[in-house]
Amino acid sequence: MPRYSSQRGEKYALHPRVQLRRTGRLVGMQVAIAGAHGKIAMRLTRRLVARGVAVVGLIRDPAHQEDLRAIGAGPVVCDLERASAVEIAAAIEGSDAAVFAAGAGPGSGPERKLTVDRDGAIKLLAACASADVPGYLVISSIGAENPPDRDDVFSVYLRAKAEADAAVEASDRDWTIVRPGRLTDDPGRGRVRLDAEPYHGEVPRDDVAAVLDALLAEPRASRLIVYVNAGEQSVEEALQALLSDRPPAR
Ligand SMILES: NC(=O)c1ccc[n+]([C@@H]2O[C@H](COP(=O)([O-])OP(=O)(O)OC[C@H]3O[C@@H](n4cnc5c(N)ncnc54)[C@H](OP(=O)(O)O)[C@@H]3O)[C@@H](O)[C@H]2O)c1
Repeated sequence: MPRYSSQRGEKYALHPRVQLRRTGRLVGMQVAIAGAHGKIAMRLTRRLVARGVAVVGLIRDPAHQEDLRAIGAGPVVCDLERASAVEIAAAIEGSDAAVFAAGAGPGSGPERKLTVDRDGAIKLLAACASADVPGYLVISSIGAENPPDRDDVFSVYLRAKAEADAAVEASDRDWTIVRPGRLTDDPGRGRVRLDAEPYHGEVPRDDVAAVLDALLAEPRASRLIVYVNAGEQSVEEALQALLSDRPPAR
């Protein structure tokens, strides 16, 4: 007898994340990605769509809709700074997980670090709770574990990430906080280091997307903070080593 169902009602004998990992595909699962036209988000979308997962992509610029459709996602115009949590909840309803992949970006000032990286992530979290979306993955950053108490934009950014992460940790969602080092556009090597303790490094966006993809197929990743950089292990090896002290999911 099927014991599990997706938020959209499909029935599974195994936990959907276990089924996704074991079979590599899961038709019926839906993931909402905020900041869906971003570099990591587009890479993650391609991976999820290839596995049969439906992707709802939240974007702020209607001109980006075609790019999302072209890679198989369903675009929804939803500006995280302007939309209410209720409007965001309507956009992500029926999803099994939401991913915060948005960011104010390198050219932005301190104000948008707060309105996007902090408040956007917290609003998406509130929307998950009210739309009954169980999973929440947030792309945070190395440094958010101990943000500097200064006024420069990077310090404000790290405090914004830290405050959002604190809200996520305090939530009752099935959350995972991912803290990469410096992101690059180098081609992914599929070789990473995953650690529960902070450490600095750099990592191709391709490989961060691969880690997010693997985390979405891993029920043991719930309530986990993970630091990600380029390393020597495959994503699967690194993830299994990181989670080895957690009981296996059935
Ligand atoms: N750069 C680094 O070295 C580094 C290191 C660690 C962590 N991170 C974090 O990693 C995450 C993803 O990075 P990335 O390089 O993939 O990001 P990215 O390419 O800059 O994409 C961010 C996306 O967020 C969207 N966005 C901005 N404001 C929004 C709003 N109000 N509503 C909805 N979407 C909005 C942007 O939309 P538009 O296209 O319309 O602007 C953009 O598509 C970010 O959170 C970043 O802070 C970065």
